[in-house]
Amino acid sequence: MSNSIKFADTQQSLLPIIAERWSPRAFAQESVTLKDLHTILEAGRWAASAMNEQPWRYIVARREDTSSFQTILACLNPSNAVWAQHASVLMISIVKKMFTKHEEPNTVALHDLGLASGSMSLQAMSMGIYTHWMGGFSHEKARELCGIPDGYAPVACIAMGYIGDPAILSESQQKSEMAPRNRKPLSETVFTTSWGDSYSLV
Ligand SMILES: Cc1cc2nc3c(=O)[nH]c(=O)nc-3n(C[C@H](O)[C@H](O)[C@H](O)COP(=O)(O)O)c2cc1C
Repeated sequence: MSNSIKFADTQQSLLPIIAERWSPRAFAQESVTLKDLHTILEAGRWAASAMNEQPWRYIVARREDTSSFQTILACLNPSNAVWAQHASVLMISIVKKMFTKHEEPNTVALHDLGLASGSMSLQAMSMGIYTHWMGGFSHEKARELCGIPDGYAPVACIAMGYIGDPAILSESQQKSEMAPRNRKPLSETVFTTSWGDSYSLV
């Protein structure tokens, strides 16, 4: 039940998986198979990273992993847990903060984690599987319940699964589920070497 109003509203010829990806809250009962989950995680594995450090770590639970799934669910803010409980897979992304080689802070580690996570989202989309990232969770609970050690920091949670019927959502969530996506124009985010001066693309 993909929702065409959610396709990127753009004149540019984007890859379909980029144009079609969006973050739903209504997930279907259908499970993401272990094989498909493996493929999605493998996509993240091949992301670029500074010094090939690969500072990303992921805690993963399928709904079938009942107790682990409940553990991740318990870390989410209630406003996220209410819909994410229906996802097929829940994950926590974690970053390793220091370079392994020389024990210096890795100032681009979050960049690399985001790149890996983005690759996973696009791989999933190419397979008809949707992802919804969440910053709204308790880092303390995640650290405690999942035994995340010092030197690593939880960053985001992810709900993953096939798209479901918006009718399972609250009224306000249904509204945002059906609303068109919007973005800042490139003129607000892409500049010449003069800060704030839009780079002309025509
Ligand atoms: C790191 C990150 C954290 C997010 N946190 C939340 C969240 O806690 N709850 C939520 O409902 N959506 C969350 N989102 C989803 C964003 O709201 C969504 O990506 C944004 O509105 C753009 O919509 P789209 O992904 O459908 O294009 C998060 C997305 C990212 C990438």
